[in-house]
Amino acid sequence: MKQKEILLFGASGQIGRHLIRKLTKNNYKIIAVTRNIHRAGYILKTQANPGYLELVELKNFNLSKIDDLIKRATLCINLIGILYEKKKDEFKRIHSDLPAMLSQKSNEYNLEKFIHISALGIENAHDSRYANSKLDGEKRVKENFNRSIIIKPSIVFSIDDKFSTRFMSLLSLLPIMPLYYNGKTKFTPIHVTDLVEIIYNIIESKNNNLVLECIGPEIITFKEIIKKLLKLINKKRILLPLPLPLAKLSAKFFQLLPNPLLTEDQLMMLKYDNCISGNYKNNFDLGYIPKRKFEEEVNKYSYNWRSGGQFADQGTQK
Ligand SMILES: NC(=O)c1ccc[n+]([C@@H]2O[C@H](COP(=O)([O-])OP(=O)(O)OC[C@H]3O[C@@H](n4cnc5c(N)ncnc54)[C@H](OP(=O)(O)O)[C@@H]3O)[C@@H](O)[C@H]2O)c1
Repeated sequence: MKQKEILLFGASGQIGRHLIRKLTKNNYKIIAVTRNIHRAGYILKTQANPGYLELVELKNFNLSKIDDLIKRATLCINLIGILYEKKKDEFKRIHSDLPAMLSQKSNEYNLEKFIHISALGIENAHDSRYANSKLDGEKRVKENFNRSIIIKPSIVFSIDDKFSTRFMSLLSLLPIMPLYYNGKTKFTPIHVTDLVEIIYNIIESKNNNLVLECIGPEIITFKEIIKKLLKLINKKRILLPLPLPLAKLSAKFFQLLPNPLLTEDQLMMLKYDNCISGNYKNNFDLGYIPKRKFEEEVNKYSYNWRSGGQFADQGTQK
């Protein structure tokens, strides 16, 4: 049987790297697209055995190059996403125009599946540009590829994330941690291994024409997450509920940084619970039960942020 080739956009990110490992171990060949083969190549090259991974550099999404790549593929997965805009209308270009083009091309070349990763908890966040662009992307993907699969994960965590690792860095440095919306926003974090397992099962199954919300095994508030992280890195910090006007002011300042800690748009998103909407099927409905709990998993890598490192005494808080 001919080996299936999967065209993967956004391959160098957290989910992409884990997905490459899972898929290549199971005999799929991955064509991984990146904007900078020199920057991303050194990480990507180590993710698969020789012969299972081909790296392709695509700086701008040139249509004839996309044609050449899609023609060869059995299925296409889009993992490209951004958390903040560096240029005007970047959310629209990345979360809506790009998936619309990829799904349209996948339809034109009659691919077996088109899998698009969107996000959970965006339906009610009408005041967020991120949420609106992601929703628009979902709509256009469904229009262009009528058997499309849209995966909507909650926060995805692992040693390679920009969530638990970033907060542990912040908590290590700051004496005071601001709590937005009193820290009451609820999250349903899913470990990247559990999410990748779900994506793999969907690739293997006959499933098509599906929107799937993907969540982990627990519902945890923002404040509980921060408390768990503090416990794991052995630190005591003041948790300070920040009134909204002050939170907005701090976001205005933070978003000026080259790699913003918080933007005004992210602050909007934090107002909404990141839980299943009930409008779609979720991983539990399909029997994909996530196993990995937040605190247990983060415990495996939190020593990087603990004074003294891996072999430090966990008993004394600083
Ligand atoms: N991580 C989460 O908690 C989470 C939660 C919900 C939804 N999602 C969604 O899941 C998808 C994958 O998430 P992830 O955490 O793996 O993302 P990630 O680590 O941020 O990686 C995204 C990839 O997108 C590519 N990319 C970034 N900016 C781009 C741009 N301006 N133009 C073209 N390509 C660009 C990058 O590839 P190169 O630099 O190699 O080109 C990067 O590897 C995204 O759509 C994200 O919105 C993630």
